[in-house]
Amino acid sequence: MSERETVTIFINDKKYTVDANQTVMQAADTLGFKIPRLCYHPRLSIEGACRVCIVEVEGLKNYVASCAYPVSEGMRIRTNTKELRRARRDIVELILDNHPTDCHTCERDGNCELQRLTYAMGIRNRHFQGERKQYDKDLSSPSVIRDPDKCILCGRCVRICSEVQNVSALGYAHRGFKTVVMPAFNTPFAESVCTTCGQCINVCPT
Ligand code: SF4
Ligand code: SF4
Ligand code: FES
Repeated sequence: MSERETVTIFINDKKYTVDANQTVMQAADTLGFKIPRLCYHPRLSIEGACRVCIVEVEGLKNYVASCAYPVSEGMRIRTNTKELRRARRDIVELILDNHPTDCHTCERDGNCELQRLTYAMGIRNRHFQGERKQYDKDLSSPSVIRDPDKCILCGRCVRICSEVQNVSALGYAHRGFKTVVMPAFNTPFAESVCTTCGQCINVCPT
């Protein structure tokens, strides 16, 4: 059996040897560094949609999404500077900007990754008061309620349905602010190819 290829990287000024095939996030996870995330899920392909997982890589002008960025020899990474924390916080605040404010009556209250992240980042007030989405809920299925107003477009449900369940009941429709995740042609869940397995609910962060 051949030896695994490794690279030397530096995270927050400490030197580590890691698997050369890892992303920055995977290496950081293995080493116990905590990087926040929303669209990443270990069972699914990388979407790189939320940008909550940004880190600083020496020599690069812009922050990179750690879930999508591969490690390389000699890479120097910072995961927790004041500027990074500020930038991540701005990203989460922008997500909240379009999100309903009914946490305390939401079914996911206490079991919501967005809520946990919001508290962990110390976000207590809304600084940006943007336009809220106002879509109807799809209540047609006996086991899945689709509430687009709560959706942060992380794509986990779309990916688990196609990549793990091989059903592909969900996809994106429209563009920009109006982007929404729904069954093809906005078919009600009950009339779509959905098998009501519930996997999309399990991976949804909101
Ligand atoms: S319940 Fe299962 S089949 Fe239906 S949309 Fe969700 S993941 Fe796909
Ligand atoms: S419904 Fe949930 S899992 Fe699907 S894209 Fe929206 S937030 Fe992500
Ligand atoms: S977790 Fe990396 S871009 Fe969303």
